[in-house]
Amino acid sequence: MSDSNETLANLAHEQRRFAPPAAFAESANVTEEAYARADADRLAFWEAAAERLDWGQKWDQVLDWSNPPFAKWFTGATINASVNCVDRHVEAGRGDKVALHWVGEPEGDARDITYAQLLDEVSRAANALTELGVRKGDRVAIYMPMIPETVITMLACARLGAPHTVVFGGFSSDALASRIIDCGAKVVVTSDGGYRRGAASALKPAVDEAVAKVDAADGDLAVEHVLVVRRTGQDVAWTERDVWWHDAVDTASAQHTPELHDSEHPLYVMYTSGTTGKPKGILHTTGGYLVGTSYTHWSVFDLKPESDVYWCTADVGWVTGHSYMVYGPLANGATQVLYEGTPDAPHKGRWWEIIEKYGVTIFYTAPTAIRTFMKQGDAIPAKFDLSSIRLLGSVGEPINPEAYVWYRDHIGGAKDGGEGVPIVDTWWQTETGQILISPLPGVTHGKPGSAMRPLPGISADVVDDEARSVGDGEGGYLVLKEPWPAMLRTLWGDDDRFVETYWSRWEGLYFAGDGAKKDDDGDLWVLGRVDDVMNVSGHRLSTTEIESALVSHPSVAEAAVVGAADDMTGQAVVAFVILREAAGDGGAEIETELRNHVGREIGAIAKPRQVMVVPELPKTRSGKIMRRLLKDVAEGREVGDTQTLADASVMDLIKAREAAR
Ligand code: WT7
Repeated sequence: MSDSNETLANLAHEQRRFAPPAAFAESANVTEEAYARADADRLAFWEAAAERLDWGQKWDQVLDWSNPPFAKWFTGATINASVNCVDRHVEAGRGDKVALHWVGEPEGDARDITYAQLLDEVSRAANALTELGVRKGDRVAIYMPMIPETVITMLACARLGAPHTVVFGGFSSDALASRIIDCGAKVVVTSDGGYRRGAASALKPAVDEAVAKVDAADGDLAVEHVLVVRRTGQDVAWTERDVWWHDAVDTASAQHTPELHDSEHPLYVMYTSGTTGKPKGILHTTGGYLVGTSYTHWSVFDLKPESDVYWCTADVGWVTGHSYMVYGPLANGATQVLYEGTPDAPHKGRWWEIIEKYGVTIFYTAPTAIRTFMKQGDAIPAKFDLSSIRLLGSVGEPINPEAYVWYRDHIGGAKDGGEGVPIVDTWWQTETGQILISPLPGVTHGKPGSAMRPLPGISADVVDDEARSVGDGEGGYLVLKEPWPAMLRTLWGDDDRFVETYWSRWEGLYFAGDGAKKDDDGDLWVLGRVDDVMNVSGHRLSTTEIESALVSHPSVAEAAVVGAADDMTGQAVVAFVILREAAGDGGAEIETELRNHVGREIGAIAKPRQVMVVPELPKTRSGKIMRRLLKDVAEGREVGDTQTLADASVMDLIKAREAAR
């Protein structure tokens, strides 16, 4: 456990409580009653949540758990996710309602898209993808900036029953290629580039490289077409398989008759880092996923579709963007902001300016962003009118109490004696698909730093090594005891790894990989990962994956990576490398070169904050690297117990190196 986690564990004695404002509680979508109702009959509870959606055929069974851990939800039912997110709102007469207030990074570059317009665009895109050969069951990779076409493509794929795999635009061409290969995508949708920090950055060249890698790989897989949105107008290389979006989609018919898909039809694959070098393809299916995301979006964010303007600042390349920008909010008919750029372009108040301009009422972001704003100072948000905000959310990592209180004071209006708005600290994962542990904003008296309780219909617990539920005031592992609708169904093409990773530690329990503590009131405090997974700015990175990237560099013989506590990013990547003899001392530029190498192999987010060249790595007698000791060095702490080391003197060598820097 890192220092910051220990601090957090101590803070589980936090005394502050923030009750919902009375008016909020009175008109909240969900009240205390929901917990009792779900406790009385969990499946009836989820069945009622399913009634919020439009189905073709209704289900025979709410949950089929006859072959655990392979769940089937709403068996026998048929549904189309795209129809639920778009068509049904238009049919109900809400076609003129804005679905997306899209805000480009260049100032003044903005576009409002109504539900009726979204229906046209999604239909055109579905027709164009069909024209390009995409059929039900085919996979489509999406490598895009935050533009409306990204959402449109996802919904068009869902409409056709062609599972999408969105790859974050910051990932490298290698990462893109391996994902295309793993799920066998035959079409890639991308753009020439996007805007970031005031400049146009390119995306298409990485797709070209990835497609070449797919061509060169073993097997008969080939990317048949690359559909390209013109966003920046920069020059792009062009081949026969490339097709411009404006040629294929804008000219396609705006009429598309959707087919209903089986409730368990695959909706998408999202890759995430695990404890080995190979990312896991998390498979989400249609019916249960849409029930789980739309219900939690409505209950946790207290969405009032008629009056709210919702904004989630995540990138659509992560699961948060899938569940709480695309499927949850659109299924609920929300009006939301979609912003292309970074919070500091062209000025540090950009986010607050957008909130003021669009009257954002519900705002969902990550602790790392909140800490950055805290550092920049109170004066920046104070310049804007944020009074429209009535609910704040947090996701991605534990929110430290100072950041929670700052968020509540300076964004949530509690400073200078203001009443303040509820904050929902939402715990969930790529795998869980939906929020599982969170306050209910009209019910819960929130504590800064705690995700509080499992939502109604969710059975989460904290257990010890023997899977025994721990008592109040004690810590252990976070587990889920019953299936939930938006849970992952398997890992794409790898049922064994699915069972092994999540279900084999204890019989019948889903192991989340997080440590957690129950405080004296039984409220939950998530403490962070207990496996070889790091959390950097709310993004999940695997130590092994970065180590593999480092050893693929010709100068590196061995590498060990740890996540070190970092004030801004939560954790930061720190790498220890042993150079090959032929590389000598690596030269003055070796650290920069290795950081860039990791950037090229995986993506900029994986670049180590620091690379230390060391003569040896601390290993046990059985040859296992003792990352715990390296973490002590990386966090500038006294090095812990070295008794189990094969050679205790290596830590002296490493410390001497570090001191000489
Ligand atoms: C891991 C999942 C869920 C979308 C974003 C990340 C950590 C996430 C919280 C929270 C404490 C949190 C956990 C989890 N995490 N939210 N509110 N409090 N920790 O998705 O990349 O799948 O990462 O993020 O460690 O296991 P992800």
